[in-house]
Amino acid sequence: MTTLQEQAYAKLNLTLDILGKREDGYHDLESVMQQITFCDEIEIDVETGEDWKIECDWEEVPTDSRNLAWEAARVFYRSIGKDPQGVTIRITKRIPMQAGLAGGSADAAAVLRALNRHENEPYTIWELARLGAKVGSDVPFCVIGHTAKATGRGEKLEPMAPMPQCFYCICMPNFTNSTPELFQAFDQEKLPWHPHTAEMERALDQQDLLKVAGYLGNAMEALVAKNHEEIGKIRTVMEDSGALGCAMTGSGPAVFGIFDAFDMAAMASMQLMEQGYKTYLSRNVE
Ligand code: C5P
Repeated sequence: MTTLQEQAYAKLNLTLDILGKREDGYHDLESVMQQITFCDEIEIDVETGEDWKIECDWEEVPTDSRNLAWEAARVFYRSIGKDPQGVTIRITKRIPMQAGLAGGSADAAAVLRALNRHENEPYTIWELARLGAKVGSDVPFCVIGHTAKATGRGEKLEPMAPMPQCFYCICMPNFTNSTPELFQAFDQEKLPWHPHTAEMERALDQQDLLKVAGYLGNAMEALVAKNHEEIGKIRTVMEDSGALGCAMTGSGPAVFGIFDAFDMAAMASMQLMEQGYKTYLSRNVE
């Protein structure tokens, strides 16, 4: 038996645009994504000689084939045509579920990276990302990481100029969203809002953190904020603590603020905790 270890980093959507509904029911997206140091820890035993198993310290995490980490291991071994003789995946969970932080996809991507290394790299990182698309729309980005623009269903990736150094305060409101319902609600919008993706790309090329913070934006945020005043309240606390910009990530409801000083991000975090929210401080994965 061999034990592998890997960190599963969360993602933020610096921009998230919805371009339209496709015939397969999915939506075409355009999103600038950033990998952050906030992570789950993954440990994988291979050749256990036992049935496949997932162990997790959070009760609400599925410990069977519904877990994307399990699906990732299954897709990987099927694709290289090998039986690993038993797999146990242990997940130390920190990234909240249904937050818009791609926690499940990050776990799946970490499994793909660890197994690929263990099997002497049958796939390049880009091939591994393509394999990840079979597991979920956010998995390819979680495999590649850093800063990238995602299009298509979210699975087509283009590397981008790195996000300038900064600090994030991430806040989890006290509710969750249904991703498919939000996409449906967006389809009904008469005057949907769209972020300025091209300007965001330019701001990254110029390494201008202030401009990057100014162009943060999520096409789904207004839909969520309309029904949940928590989003606006969290934004206000972040802005009053010196955030250069704020946005909801993915289909939410987690909201993040960008700060150029750690003590300001920590101040925002403390104030939000005092109001009963869970918060997380993080940085870019370099
Ligand atoms: O790919 P994933 O399982 O994360 O998607 C969850 C749901 O979100 C899909 O079933 C679909 O309803 C919606 N979705 C979409 N367009 C995308 C990604 C997700 O409509 N690009």
